[in-house]
Amino acid sequence: MPSPLAERLLNWYQDNARDLPWRYHTDPYAVWVSEIMLQQTRVDTVIPYFQRWMERFPSIEALASASQQEVLKYWEGLGYYSRARNLHRAAQIVLRAHAGQMPQEPNALQELPGIGRYTAGAIASIAFGADAAALDGNIRRVLARVFNMDLPVHSPEGERRLWELAEEQLPSGQAGNYNQALMDLGALICTPREPDCPCCPVSDLCEARALGVQK
Ligand code: ADE
Repeated sequence: MPSPLAERLLNWYQDNARDLPWRYHTDPYAVWVSEIMLQQTRVDTVIPYFQRWMERFPSIEALASASQQEVLKYWEGLGYYSRARNLHRAAQIVLRAHAGQMPQEPNALQELPGIGRYTAGAIASIAFGADAAALDGNIRRVLARVFNMDLPVHSPEGERRLWELAEEQLPSGQAGNYNQALMDLGALICTPREPDCPCCPVSDLCEARALGVQK
């Protein structure tokens, strides 16, 4: 049984998920590209880059065999260029060391250049249906409010507690939608400065809201 929080989030996501281009792809490679682009970059900025990228490099093979110069050209303007260099290098590793198939386990994904704990959890859950948590900035804020975390979110203990909460609430078999529901709730409703609590599907479960300290 999903937790009350997860159940509400999954129901809300069914009707309110953002219409984002990578959500139409079933190929794990597309999920990977989107998650790398979305590191440190806003969704609206990423959309056209993702579309151009997938037209030019539609597969791991296409990316692996391109020149670094061309790869960087398709990244131009997104910033943090090490992301593009790592993605290119990782595609070549997947081709050579994994017979062109992306690894599915979060730990194996984290061995690839550019994939840390968050991105590994996002790819494993969204692309492979694994029961993996993924903590990005939006998810951190939502969980910190719902559970009225009193630890500083950037402290090692705060970090540990947030991963623990994200994992405790994970609905088995539905982690991809659960993670993306948290991301969308954080982007659309549980925003940093003016959260729209009257529209929030989990406001009555939210400890910060109950105490009036959500801002
Ligand atoms: N930010 C990072 N990953 C995302 C995703 N899959 N959907 C929406 N926002 C995101």
